[in-house]
Amino acid sequence: MQNLFQPPPGTRDFYPDAMALRRHIEDTWRRVSLRHGFVEVDGPTFEYLDLYKVKSGDEIVSQLFHFESRGEDRTQFALRPEFTPTLARMVAAKANALPRPIKWFSIPRCYRAERPQKGRLREFIQWNVDMLGGETPEARRQFDLETAALCIDTLREFGLASSDVKLVWNDRALVEQLFALAGLPPERYPFGFYLLDRLAKLAPEQRRKQYADNAVTAGEQAFFEQLAAGGDPLSEAFWESLGSNGDFAAYRDAISGMQAHIEKTLALMGLPGYATYDPSIVRGLAYYTGFVWEVVDVSGGNRAVAGGGRYDKLIEMFGGPALAATGFGMGDVVLALLLAEKGKLPANAGVSPPDLFVINALEQTDDAVRQLAILRAAGLTALASYKATKNIGKLLEEAGKAHARVALILAPAEAAEGKAKLKNLRTREERTIPLAAVLAETLAELRGAGDIAP
Ligand code: HAM
Repeated sequence: MQNLFQPPPGTRDFYPDAMALRRHIEDTWRRVSLRHGFVEVDGPTFEYLDLYKVKSGDEIVSQLFHFESRGEDRTQFALRPEFTPTLARMVAAKANALPRPIKWFSIPRCYRAERPQKGRLREFIQWNVDMLGGETPEARRQFDLETAALCIDTLREFGLASSDVKLVWNDRALVEQLFALAGLPPERYPFGFYLLDRLAKLAPEQRRKQYADNAVTAGEQAFFEQLAAGGDPLSEAFWESLGSNGDFAAYRDAISGMQAHIEKTLALMGLPGYATYDPSIVRGLAYYTGFVWEVVDVSGGNRAVAGGGRYDKLIEMFGGPALAATGFGMGDVVLALLLAEKGKLPANAGVSPPDLFVINALEQTDDAVRQLAILRAAGLTALASYKATKNIGKLLEEAGKAHARVALILAPAEAAEGKAKLKNLRTREERTIPLAAVLAETLAELRGAGDIAP
């Protein structure tokens, strides 16, 4: 056999089963977004490369698939690795015309030139939910938690409970307090964020290289090493061993106050027991300015299923007005892995059984074709066999395999009188009806069985 072409590494073919699962995921995302008052938007699949250089951060820029336009100008474009820069660009261009708060969701395909691995592909689908506006700190805090709650609510709709997933949160302002306690000078905070984001993923020699390359002092190293070893910066022992004399109590009180607020608000929303503070969550993307969070698998076996946070400077950076913003992205890849592991994949997702199956034992096909058209025009799902057989028993078997609810049997004896048989495939009851009344009788049959509304 000839060598078959494979899909490029990190991409997927969606055969009918995979497509049905994708539909289930996307339909659920869409349904819950609409229920929470978000409206759907989309943008182009590729953007000017520069759009991502503004503020997404080095990691994303290093993962861009980019290309050049032909001709004189040689413009540089990149496939979108995420939706947030597109959203910021769109909002900045029309900020004053958009009703506030802006509540948008989108389901873009995204592209990252990553090394394909479990939970990470080069092409994936990412649900984005963003809320922009909020005139007071209280309103903004509410928006943070409304978007996070929507994320959890959706996972619950997929069948995942607080024993399966948790929301781990932090705040970049709290991370700055943490750095101050550790004695980092403010100009080193960006490096601190960068390192903290990677700390758990770096092997000891990689950490040592980071320290050497960035002239990290012995005191700072001790702090990062203690964090890397799982030390708890909420314990006094952590700071005592570092010899810090900063205001540890203020840091600890700020966290417990925020944790209490998050817990209370999520409990009011019917989502108790999901939130935990995690000092290692800072998020790799450079545009976050405050509250940051991820939703992770409690058993720790997967990458984050969703991540997001507050990015209050991005709209302004893209030429728009100062506009506070918060939101998150959830990928379909990790979600599908998680649903499979927890036994929450739907059976027959997206496959709805036909309402009616036409069984044609006549020599001609005109009646069958006409009845199919009438039934489909009325919105029913109507199928027929492509087999040549006129054996009613065999054809009924096929209808049964398709899980059809009703069979319309076109046979010579009834056809001679302008009639046909209608068989309910669940009760096996059969009756003779006029051909002219097939639609009305089918609807009555389906209504009687509760398959369609009266
Ligand atoms: P992110 O953390 O880069 O955030 O991605 C969010 C989610 O997208 C991840 O938790 C993961 O489920 C999925 N994801 C990311 N990269 C891949 C990949 N290569 N393969 C499969 N899934 C992936 C953002 O993208 C932010 N723009 C989210 C956001 C929206 N923040 C505010 N608004």
